[in-house]
Formats: sequence, C-alpha cells, structure tokens
Amino acid sequence: MTQDEMKKAVAQAALDRILPHLEEDTILGIGTGSTANLFIDALAAHKTRFDGAVASSQASADRLKAHGIPVYDLNSVSNLPFYIDGADEFDPHLNLIKGGGAALTREKIVAAVSKEFICIVDQTKQVEVLGNFPLPVEVIPMARSYVARELVKLGGDPEYREGVVTDNGNVILDVFNLKIVDPKALEQQINMLTGVVTNGLFAHRGANVILMGTPQGVQEITA
Ligand code: A5P
Repeated sequence: MTQDEMKKAVAQAALDRILPHLEEDTILGIGTGSTANLFIDALAAHKTRFDGAVASSQASADRLKAHGIPVYDLNSVSNLPFYIDGADEFDPHLNLIKGGGAALTREKIVAAVSKEFICIVDQTKQVEVLGNFPLPVEVIPMARSYVARELVKLGGDPEYREGVVTDNGNVILDVFNLKIVDPKALEQQINMLTGVVTNGLFAHRGANVILMGTPQGVQEITA
C-alpha cells in the first residue's frame, strides 16, 4: 500500500467517524495539508448533510469553496464539534508536531475551539520522541534573527524557511535537532520568546484521537 493510499484510508475513516454526528447546523473545523485535502474531497459528497466549515488556511478554504462547501469566519462560530487535520509527527501521548505546511497558527486556533481533534496520519508520522521533524515556529518578520538566536540557546538549529510567508504575513523558522522529551514545557518556553506567534508543538492541546493508516488497515490510537 502506498503512502497516498494510507492517507486516503484515514481520510475515509475520519469521515465514517463523523458522518453519524452531522446535523444541518453542524460546522466542521478543517485542517491543512495533503491528508486534510483528501478528507475535504471525500466530505464533499455529503455537503448537504451539514452547514459548512471553518478552515485553518486559505488553501483549505479555497478547496472547500471549490466543492461548494460554505466557509465561515471563526469569529462567527461558537461551536465546532470536530477538527480534522493531519500532522507531521506524533508521539505515544498524542502530542504532535504540525506546521509543515506553514499553517500552524490557524491550525492551533481552530483546534483550540474544537471539541474533538481527530488527527489523520499515515504510519510514517509515528515516533517515540518528537523532534525528527524540524519544529516550525511562526515569527513576526522583524524578530526573525533574535528568535533564531534564542532558539539556539534552547539547543535547536533554526533555519529560515526562505520564500514562505504565512497566511498571517509572518515567517517560519524550522528548528532542527531538537529531542523533545517534554513537549508541554518546550511549547510554553518557545511561545514565551518575544516575536514568536506560535510554534508547531501541539501538546497543551494535542489530538483526542489519532487515526493512523498502515498497510494492514486504519488503527485508532487514544491516550
Ligand atoms: C500544515 O501546516 C501541517 O500542520 C499539516 O497538517 C501537516 O504538515 C501534515 O501534512 P500532510 O497531510 O500533507 O502530511
């Protein structure tokens, strides 16, 4: 089974999980990336069964709209029963690294509002300790060099993701060589650095459930 087939299978599994709960006024939180895209494409066939979606990026908003699914501003929505999104890495405690697609801040906001975060991944994202995937940090542009120096003090090797501007008009530093044994502490420590908008550790608000695609089928992982 290819990685793409595993992603398709978890997208379908997430859809099967939420379908019985959809009502005509349901608004869904939708993430960003290739797995989230597959979920959006599968969801489109059921668009008459719910109200619409809040998207974690302009790219996902555009894809939802192209399918005829209404996209709402989060400020006009108070109840999001589900957030469905991928991840770049996850550990056994359902802590995540996200932001490979530079959408981490909006992803974190939509996840914060949602009741249940269903994370859809293929098995290549599973690790014992987070940090093989470089940790994305969204930074106000004028603070880039300062924040990079502070990240070095925390033991990381930050690299500027050249040419990338986030949906919020900021830049991304990818921090290599971190061995993240205490994700909650590091998430907080990095967020304390002046100039940081947010970082890609989802530990204070990790996933509620992970659906992981494997060649043997979809596994459900809960903490
Ligand atoms: C986007 O910023 C990321 O957090 C994505 O959720 C993550 O990169 C997973 O993407 P794929 O589904 O494309 O692997």
